[in-house]
Amino acid sequence: MKAIILAGGAGSRLYPLTLVASKQLQAVYDKPMIYYPLTVLIASGIREFCLISTPDDLPRYRQLLGDGSQWGIAIEYREQARPEGIAQALIIAESFIGSDSVTLMLGDNIFFGGDAFPRAMRDFTSGATIFAYHVKDPERYGVVEFDPVSGAALSIEEKPKQPRSNYAVPGIYIYDNDAVAIARTLTPSPRGELEITDVNREYLRRGTLRAERLSRGFAWLDAGTSSALQEASSYIAVVEQRQGLKIGCPEEAALIRGFLGLAQFEALVAAMPNCEYRSYLQVVAQETRRLRA
Ligand code: TTP
Repeated sequence: MKAIILAGGAGSRLYPLTLVASKQLQAVYDKPMIYYPLTVLIASGIREFCLISTPDDLPRYRQLLGDGSQWGIAIEYREQARPEGIAQALIIAESFIGSDSVTLMLGDNIFFGGDAFPRAMRDFTSGATIFAYHVKDPERYGVVEFDPVSGAALSIEEKPKQPRSNYAVPGIYIYDNDAVAIARTLTPSPRGELEITDVNREYLRRGTLRAERLSRGFAWLDAGTSSALQEASSYIAVVEQRQGLKIGCPEEAALIRGFLGLAQFEALVAAMPNCEYRSYLQVVAQETRRLRA
């Protein structure tokens, strides 16, 4: 399983913050937004990444994330010249995907809680797995309708005026290799985008789509507007301060997954400037050393 993180787009709703750095580089409490989806994927066991962004922003992502080797992963970069739809990522990353299956994740989606994603990626064999999350305002999203008896997905609609359910599809999609060919058959929607909902509908038509409901209490936060960004920061701050554990920390996820050995992890931490982030990781290192002794 490989992963694409899509971190382009206009970010117009965050203007003027996005005049100098893209949405997914903005701070969510104590770290850049992109760290959160990246950490979810590392924690799910993925080591090969393709990050897609705009020509302007790509150099900034390279500066932040490098080639990924510091975390025991590999990151390639590709440009999306214009925001022509989420499904276009599958076409842009075709040579990266090769003959593998792929998880496509949006760089501004923040999740917290449970093990739904690592489990779904571990159990994935073919077709597509998407997720469904109960929201108050489903008309802003792709909406999935479930059969009340079998629990199977019945329909998926993009931003419907009259949603058939309250279940929105979050920005993480697991696909087999057919997704690239499916994306290639799409034509732009009326808003000029290759729609990821159309890819999901094709899997539904083929009978190979699984839509898994995320449980109550699981957090899916959107950080697309200034107030949503502020709410996401507050949420992360409250949980981190209560637990004394960080959310969205790629170094820690890489250590837990075994992508980094403890000595490598300690060297990485030692090279950081003095800051809260470093202090946290020093405690993680000490605790890991104690548990492994
Ligand atoms: P949106 O939030 O729908 O769009 P946006 O980021 O351009 O923001 P705004 O509406 O404020 O202008 O996009 C969802 C995510 O997908 C976001 O992380 C950006 C990303 N995206 C791309 O990278 N390329 C695209 O072509 C599209 C449509 C979205």
